[in-house]
Amino acid sequence: MTRTLIVGSGFVGRAVAARLTAVGESAVLASRHAPADLPAPWVPLDAADADACAHVVDRVRPDRLVLVHGPSDVTWCEAHPERAAALHTAAATNLTAAAPGCRTVLISTDNVFDGASPANDESTPTTPANAYGRAKLRAERIVRETADGTVLRVSLIYGWEPPGADKWLNFFSACAHRLRSGEPVEAPHDQWTTPVLVEDVAAVTAAVLPSGAPELLHLGGPDRISRAAWAEAVADGLGVPRSRVVRVPKAAGRYASRPTNTCLTSHLLDGFLAARGLRVRGVAEGARALLEAAA
Ligand SMILES: NC(=O)c1ccc[n+]([C@@H]2O[C@H](COP(=O)([O-])OP(=O)(O)OC[C@H]3O[C@@H](n4cnc5c(N)ncnc54)[C@H](OP(=O)(O)O)[C@@H]3O)[C@@H](O)[C@H]2O)c1
Repeated sequence: MTRTLIVGSGFVGRAVAARLTAVGESAVLASRHAPADLPAPWVPLDAADADACAHVVDRVRPDRLVLVHGPSDVTWCEAHPERAAALHTAAATNLTAAAPGCRTVLISTDNVFDGASPANDESTPTTPANAYGRAKLRAERIVRETADGTVLRVSLIYGWEPPGADKWLNFFSACAHRLRSGEPVEAPHDQWTTPVLVEDVAAVTAAVLPSGAPELLHLGGPDRISRAAWAEAVADGLGVPRSRVVRVPKAAGRYASRPTNTCLTSHLLDGFLAARGLRVRGVAEGARALLEAAA
């Protein structure tokens, strides 16, 4: 049975582990701390520690690696640019060195672009405008130069988080819980994204794991939508009035420092998905699926 070591046990890493185990593959999650609700076995690992990476690879003996670890907080990276770059560089270097010849998938980001353009496909030159994007780009280069790998750049990811969290990990869940409890949601009408459901990200990640996948693939959802319109789609899904969404300019709210566009397009994705019988859902279908499952 093919065994995949997933470095990063967060929002996305856990979804990838769940997908692989659901299709009968073996997955092992790794991170510094053990989160609750793990869908697969877990091992402790600080990916910045070369000896620890070698030890974990020796113990797990993976056929494949998925690098989906932090730091992923754009604000934290901006405040600690050297640490962000050092961590992403060290993790990519240590893990590709510890598992030479291992198929490797790096989950990267639309932040390798500055967000000025509404559409960036795989041929668009990278222009990171923040520390997070620069750190991820360095990791991309290491994987592309040293491994049999695929860099999967993903747009904003969303999914269901149960109520009661201290802090929501994604915009969809934050909106859904606030709107449902009758609170207004402020969202910019001029910040654009191509959101992707976390289960669809996991399915595409599993599909790029075998050899032969493109070296670089962009994964954005089919809808290019403003945060405000997205929040309204969530309101529709919940059956609550759209008037609970307060449309504000990006400059006036908490997204002021975000790029105008966090969008990805692709000249490869449609063909790649069609050949594998996969489909990436739009925001209305995604909202329906999540809200029905949660109910
Ligand atoms: N979420 C999105 O919208 C999105 C979009 C595009 C790309 N991505 C990429 O996907 C990746 C994961 O995102 P996420 O949303 O799942 O983040 P997350 O929920 O914050 O999870 C990050 C995981 O990385 C682990 N980690 C951090 N530093 C580590 C280290 N030195 N060694 C080992 N593990 C470490 C964290 O656990 P510990 O702190 O316990 O180690 C955690 O399990 C990021 O690389 C991000 O660039 C995310």
